[in-house]
Amino acid sequence: MKINLSIFLQLFIITVFFFSLSSTLKIGETCSSSSNGACDSGLKCQTCPVNGNTRPRCTRIQPLSPTSKVKGLPFNKYSWLTTHNSFAIKGTKPALGPALVAPTNQEDSITDQLNNGVRGLMLDMYDFNGDIWFCHSFGRKCYNFTAFQPAINGLKEIQTFLEANPSEIVTIFIEDYVTASQGLTKVFNDAGLKKYWFPVAKMPKNGEDWPTVDDMVKQNERLVVFTSKQAKEASEGIAYEWRYVVENQYGDDGMKAGSCPNRAESSPMNTKSRSLVLQNYFPDNPNSTKVCADNSAPLVSMLNTCHKAAGDRWPNFIAVDYYQKSDGGGAPEAVDIANGHLTCGCDNVAYCKENATFGTCDVPPISPPPPAAATPTTADNPSADNSNFANIEACPTQLRWLLATILTTTLLLWS
Ligand SMILES: *[C@@H]1O[C@H](CO)[C@@H](O)[C@H](O)[C@H]1NC(C)=O
Ligand SMILES: *[C@@H]1O[C@H](CO)[C@@H](O)[C@H](O)[C@H]1NC(C)=O
Ligand SMILES: *[C@@H]1O[C@H](CO)[C@@H](O)[C@H](O)[C@H]1NC(C)=O
Repeated sequence: MKINLSIFLQLFIITVFFFSLSSTLKIGETCSSSSNGACDSGLKCQTCPVNGNTRPRCTRIQPLSPTSKVKGLPFNKYSWLTTHNSFAIKGTKPALGPALVAPTNQEDSITDQLNNGVRGLMLDMYDFNGDIWFCHSFGRKCYNFTAFQPAINGLKEIQTFLEANPSEIVTIFIEDYVTASQGLTKVFNDAGLKKYWFPVAKMPKNGEDWPTVDDMVKQNERLVVFTSKQAKEASEGIAYEWRYVVENQYGDDGMKAGSCPNRAESSPMNTKSRSLVLQNYFPDNPNSTKVCADNSAPLVSMLNTCHKAAGDRWPNFIAVDYYQKSDGGGAPEAVDIANGHLTCGCDNVAYCKENATFGTCDVPPISPPPPAAATPTTADNPSADNSNFANIEACPTQLRWLLATILTTTLLLWS
């Protein structure tokens, strides 16, 4: 009887052990950097050594969908995660010539960006190589060694996404160097995107609300496109961005804590005749090691600064480099914060209550944050493995272990 019992107990313990291994990890939990460390979907295992976060943890790479949380508001009552130079993707193979020497700003494809909830794309477009290309420039010109890919490729990715996701809305901000007559019209047509076009005529010109997202979806006008070239609004029906949007300074000058000036092309941030607000937060030169720190607390701090500068308006677009990099919540969290204020009057869209009046919030109790630094694994620190249990979410696993141990000891002593 005694032997059978201990076999049973061993099986029980083994089962508990494997159950705890196979469960996926939540935000903040310690992960192993290999194979994404078993983080839940929508999370990524990473560290941010530049601000002392050496413990690999599951961090967010997706914002909450604001339109599923609070439905049917005007388009300008939501905030959207936006990628700066969405096309300048790390690891892109040179399309022309031996090398691509342009800096990169993102690390996954436009398709993956969209699937992770990115809804604003900043694209630099040039006449090049007999076509229109996504490119970086020297002196406003594209070269073989700075050309990423023909624009049609990326635009087709957007087309595929809009086709497969009939209630999603995507916004494109074109830094427009295209001089070919009807050049942009042609490439958008060729990509199959004209049928999703949101018409300039429906864009509010004097600070009014935009149509509701429901209306945009119903009319299938789910692609909003802005150009930096004024003349194209009349000639091609492509909205001239600065009639509809204010933006703060981009680059290093836009990252000075406590100030949020407009960029040169934009009206002042508090210009209420422009219904949309875009917040840039990225340096002159993308820095893939520092960006995780930039996309964390400083981004949220600038969110508050720009909110004030914009006349108490939360940004509709939050544009960053390497949108997946942070020390925890990152740019997705900043977007959730903006959406909370915009859609339901709460500090985070996660706190919005269904069908509740504006300002009624459901704030969960806050647990203390786990330590940022990794616990060194040394002989005199046998508990280092336990860092997996830094998050209170994992407590039930510890309890199961404790229970199993007590049970085993008690029964073995008895028998
Ligand atoms: C750029 O690439 C094209 C296509 O491969 C090639 O024909 C052209 O010679 C290249 N230009 C330069 C300056 O290398
Ligand atoms: C990136 O930022 C880090 C930390 O501030 C700095 O040490 C490094 O020189 C920067 N790299 C580039 C290429 O600017
Ligand atoms: C919220 O309102 C919608 C539409 O009136 C309704 O279908 C839904 O059941 C409501 N949800 C709750 C939780 O009351």
